[in-house]
Amino acid sequence: MFPAASLLTIIFLALSIAGSPVEIDNSPITLPIARRLNVSDGPINLLQQDKARLTAFKDNSFSTQGGRTGSTPVTNAAVTYLIEVGIGSPATTYNLIVDTGSSNTWVGANTKYVKTKTSVDTGEPVAVTYGSGSFSGTEYIDTITLGSGLTIAAQSIGVASTSTGFTDVDGILGIGPVDLTNDTLINEPTKTIPTVTDNLYSQGTISQKVVGISFEPTTSKTVTNGGLTFGGTDATKYTGSIGYTPITTTYPSSTYWGINQSISYGSTTIMSSTAGIVDTGTTFVYIASDAYAKYQSATGGTPDTATGLLLISSSQYKALKNLNFHIGSETYALTPNAQIWPRSLNSYVGGSSNAIYLMVSDIGTPSGSGFDFVNGYTFLERFYFVFDAANSRVGFAETSYTGATTN
Ligand SMILES: *[C@@H]1O[C@H](CO)[C@@H](O)[C@H](O)[C@H]1NC(C)=O
Ligand SMILES: *[C@@H]1O[C@H](CO)[C@@H](O)[C@H](O)[C@H]1NC(C)=O
Ligand SMILES: *[C@@H]1O[C@H](CO)[C@@H](O)[C@H](O)[C@H]1NC(C)=O
Repeated sequence: MFPAASLLTIIFLALSIAGSPVEIDNSPITLPIARRLNVSDGPINLLQQDKARLTAFKDNSFSTQGGRTGSTPVTNAAVTYLIEVGIGSPATTYNLIVDTGSSNTWVGANTKYVKTKTSVDTGEPVAVTYGSGSFSGTEYIDTITLGSGLTIAAQSIGVASTSTGFTDVDGILGIGPVDLTNDTLINEPTKTIPTVTDNLYSQGTISQKVVGISFEPTTSKTVTNGGLTFGGTDATKYTGSIGYTPITTTYPSSTYWGINQSISYGSTTIMSSTAGIVDTGTTFVYIASDAYAKYQSATGGTPDTATGLLLISSSQYKALKNLNFHIGSETYALTPNAQIWPRSLNSYVGGSSNAIYLMVSDIGTPSGSGFDFVNGYTFLERFYFVFDAANSRVGFAETSYTGATTN
């Protein structure tokens, strides 16, 4: 496979030098990510939604025959991070969930897959069960267009014949580690499916197997303020330098974008170095139960029944200290403002308008489980995030929003 592909690349290069000026653009490309909070059915219990996803993550080892179980639950698509992806020629545009916690790319949940001259039916049945959603169908090979002009030839994608739990989205763009596609092809359970990042790299479109992600804190329920960069990092999205840390060796965090980190509240350590993950599809920040108990007592927060979050008074808010994430040799501080849910969005999560809710929650198991924290979206709104697949490492950097007081 690989030598043939390389040969093709060489022929293509030779042709392009000899003939028309075909340019191979291998500088990083950034695509917009939209966040949508679906509150059409009234307030959403984001905590409950996150928990379903976390349970699925932890259970990932127990995949059943004939389709992976675990990874991303996408319940009612109440909070989604979407990217527009063109498939086929002429291309049909699909709205796909950007998911760092799974790696199959598939379409057909809402907008049906439109076959064009570039569609190739492989006849291979594929199935993924995501905690509280699923799809099954057939694997196709097709051309994918990301943004304007970033084209992937011969990308393997799932075409759903049935799916559950996906409303108003067309499927998933899976940008997690490729091994998460293992056990998804029914007839070839140990075969993995190259991800879009793998193909962009092997086709020479990007020169590094690197994905960068940026978000900004927001007080709107629907906003396009995220960026997904393939092939490098987008220097306009962060300040200072990126600190890298290796993917953790601790299972099951090691199968995702997992890292080791410790946490201190002010100068007090509340969680010793342990393994967990970074995830765009989890809304809040989750920490091991023992660490959470220390955080709760240090902040004085009381569990709020309506939202499930910790409620604090305005004087407790004024006394909040930084929550410091020690990752590799760097420290990333969530300021007091970064630790609270945006007050203007309180009603959407079932809270009362002037209340102050902390967005750090309990993962539900004590330290040492191998899955002791999730640095979710509310963390990633404050720090730029890089996944470097070739070097099995994850990086973070401060942004101009790290210290913002948006919330
Ligand atoms: C929001 O979710 C409901 C189901 O809870 C669904 O019927 C509706 O189509 C969704 N709307 C959007 C814009 O996602
Ligand atoms: C793939 O899944 C099979 C079980 O179906 C397992 O034996 C194998 O170790 C897995 N390989 C990877 C790379 O995860
Ligand atoms: C992470 O922590 C585990 C458990 O303490 C340790 O074995 C491992 O060497 C650490 N580093 C990495 C990169 O996994």
